[in-house]
Amino acid sequence: VFAQIVRAPEDPILGVTVAYNKDPSPVKLNLGVGAYRTEEGKPLVLNVVRRVEQQLVNDVSRNKEYIPITGLADFNKLSAKLIFGSDSPAVQENRVTTVQGLSGTGSLRVGGEFLAKHYHQRTIYLPTPTWGNHPKVFTLAGLSVKAYRYYAPSTRGLDFEGLLEDLSSAPSGSIVLLHACAHNPTGVDPTLEQWEQIRQLIRSKALLPFFDSAYQGFASGSLDADAQPVRLFVADGGELLVAQSYAKNMGLYGERVGALSIVCKSSDVASRVESQLKLVIRPMYSSPPIHGASIVAAILKDGNLYNEWTIELKAMADRIISMRQQLFDALVARGTPGDWSHIIRQIGMFTFTGLNSEQVSFMTNEYHIYMTSDGRISMAGLSSKTVPHLADAIHAAVTR
Ligand code: LMR
Repeated sequence: VFAQIVRAPEDPILGVTVAYNKDPSPVKLNLGVGAYRTEEGKPLVLNVVRRVEQQLVNDVSRNKEYIPITGLADFNKLSAKLIFGSDSPAVQENRVTTVQGLSGTGSLRVGGEFLAKHYHQRTIYLPTPTWGNHPKVFTLAGLSVKAYRYYAPSTRGLDFEGLLEDLSSAPSGSIVLLHACAHNPTGVDPTLEQWEQIRQLIRSKALLPFFDSAYQGFASGSLDADAQPVRLFVADGGELLVAQSYAKNMGLYGERVGALSIVCKSSDVASRVESQLKLVIRPMYSSPPIHGASIVAAILKDGNLYNEWTIELKAMADRIISMRQQLFDALVARGTPGDWSHIIRQIGMFTFTGLNSEQVSFMTNEYHIYMTSDGRISMAGLSSKTVPHLADAIHAAVTR
């Protein structure tokens, strides 16, 4: 009965790792998926995470019972504080409902399905380009996906005029997906002044902001600074959604731990919204997993552990920033044609190199360097040792 099924293509991002794993070359380099690697090219488990896990294992009073449909209460409260700030009026007035989600993706999907079911507008505007999974997540959630201009290839920066124009002509009430910081794949973020203009436009047109916050702490090294755009929107008292991920900033990729918060106008509305979120979650996966959320809650709850985390987080962010400088310097040293200053201007895990898909294929075939076909490279996958190899490959690709 399944004989007629056609083979589906690999995922454009995770499929890069599949191809990388098949390559026997000793010099192969995976700059596809956005996952942090050490200078030795190894995945990193934060020391603070290891310590908390040890404590959790030793605590015999813990069990493996189902947790509530909405997740661990502590985790949810602390996640809301992390993104909105501990002095956030919305949190203090109980106008926020937060539910634990299966990392960023799962939280976006739950938010999307909730909106498709209960919100009066079914259209969501996504930036061009955006994370490859966004259109699929929201389409399958039941929303209709449209695009707004975001990136200008000519400047390798923000197309601010285009963005304002497209959001101005979006029908009132439309949902707008915003990357809270460290835009994926471009590494291009609006300035705070630009965010303020975006906020004014969104509120004046009664658009509904839906933030994807996958990199809090990774853009600047500061958790508060990276949350500023979201907090700007919360401060005006309006409604919004935020999906948070702890994959990158706590290195909990495979634990699938994240949260969805919906900021409402009153605590009564928030509690009714939460009751409906439960109806979205229960038939989807019943209730979320306990382990990752327990780690996050333990770290966010304890002042010392929290500080230790911020130091380790800053070290990861700083290493990425230093990779940007090293790659830029290596290209300048080789006299590689073109302006490569966007490598040091762009923010977060990725550089949107401007290399085309043909150049990417060349680098993969000849240099065993793996990256997405849009020319995005994960700076977090690079190390001082591998920068020369990458710079040689880029140089060869653009001078061929
Ligand atoms: C990425 O963009 O590489 C990450 O967000 C990982 C993923 O799931 O795609």
